[in-house]
This record gives sequence, structure tokens and C-alpha cells, in this order.
Amino acid sequence: MKIIVADNYIHLSEIAANIMADVIRDKPDAVLGLATGSSPIGAYKKLVDAYSNAHLSFSKVRTYNLDEYIGLDASHVQSYHYFMRSKLFDLVDLKAENTHVPSGVGDDLTKNCREYDEMLSSCPRDIQLLGIGSNGHIGFNEPGTPFDSRTHIVSLTEKTKKDNSRLFAADEKVPDRAITMGIKDIMSAKKILLIAYGANKADAIYNTVCGKVTENCPASVLQKHKDVTLVLDTEAASKLDKSIIEK
Ligand code: F6R
Repeated sequence: MKIIVADNYIHLSEIAANIMADVIRDKPDAVLGLATGSSPIGAYKKLVDAYSNAHLSFSKVRTYNLDEYIGLDASHVQSYHYFMRSKLFDLVDLKAENTHVPSGVGDDLTKNCREYDEMLSSCPRDIQLLGIGSNGHIGFNEPGTPFDSRTHIVSLTEKTKKDNSRLFAADEKVPDRAITMGIKDIMSAKKILLIAYGANKADAIYNTVCGKVTENCPASVLQKHKDVTLVLDTEAASKLDKSIIEK
């Protein structure tokens, strides 16, 4: 694993956006795996800046998001569909038909999962962007998820619901379930870029990098991938030995 420690969140976001922009410049029709949550917001902003100021074009890019809450349709402000449109999709020249977020609505969620699997199988990701939960989850693959999992419906842990409640209004309930890309599909991306900031991620990062590869820490599976870059701030990296950090 390549580990880069940035001075602060803005620097971290710049480094992550540059890595993604390089993939798109090398391959204008790149397929991106994308994440939501607070971690990638700065990187998306930098990519929007690169589109506006440096003519980075997304016109041939295709995107596949990791996850979505069950029961929230694409117009719901807390949905990950809405998040992606407001932070990236609507701000660059991405074609709407080239963006994909798993659907958490409808009568047959199993069918939604299988349809997403088919799309993922036919469109291997050139780069997969990830955040990480304080319990080591990637996507919404909570501890205990088998490493060979594909798209599935998951019950969110109380810890994840508590962590994510900060993004909801006080009178809004965090949904109990989500649809998520599985670990097998995350691992099938050619390149993986994980970003994390803040002290509450330090244990998860330590377990990801130095811990045993175990389903108890889903992100530890990344030790088995041949092209992983972690971009961290000093707090998220605080439990790592300095000798393994790239200068
Ligand atoms: C979101 C996702 C989650 C988040 C993780 C960290 O699409 O897949 O795994 O990346 O929960 O969330 P933040 O960045 O809000 O700390």
C-alpha cells in the first residue's frame, strides 16, 4: 500500500483529486467507482475546479457509486443520488446516462442488486474511490461481510447510523438499511484510492494497514490488492509508524 499523509483536509483533497484527474487524462473514457460521505467532498470540489479551470473533461467518463440508503429515492436530499448530483454530476460535463448509483427503492430489492452486479461486471472500474467507516467498513460493507460479497442489502450498525446522523436534521431518522456494492466488486477495480481524515478514523486505518486481514475489519482486505493508495491527514495516520509513510 502506498500511504500519503497530507497536512490538512484541503491538501488531502488536492492529492486525491489529482490522482483521479490523472486517471481521466490518461483515459478519457475511464470508469470511476465513487463514494459519498464527508471524506470525498473536497476532492469532488477540486475535480469541479479542474473541469472549470483546467478543461478536465468528464464527457466520456462513466461512474458507478458504492451505495444508497434503502427507501430514499433519487430526489430525496439525503439520498446519495442527490449528494452526487449536487457535489459532482451536475457541476461537470458528465452525461447523466453515464452515472450510476444503486437503487434503494422498488418492490424487488434483490432484483436491484442483481441488476447492479450486471452493470459492474460489464464495466470494470479503472479507479475506485473509498472512504472508510470508523469500524473499518468500505461502501456499506459492515464488519462480518464476506470478502466475496457482491451487491447486497445491509442492515446498518448502530455505530454507522450514529456516525452518519450528523448529516441528517435532528428530526430525521437515519435509514436502517442500505444497498451496497460488495467487497468483491470493490476489489476488482484496477486501482483503489482511499481517503480518510480525523482522529476517529485512526484505529480503522491502523487495522486496515497493519492489522490481520479479517472480515471483522472489511478494509483490511485492501492489503490483498496490488494498487492501493491511502491519502490521510495527520490525525487519521496518527497510529501508523512513520517509516511506512511516503515522503
Ligand atoms: C459512502 C461510503 C461509506 C463512507 C464511510 C465514511 O459512499 O461508502 O463507506 O465512505 O462511511 O464516511 P465519511 O466520509 O462521511 O466519514
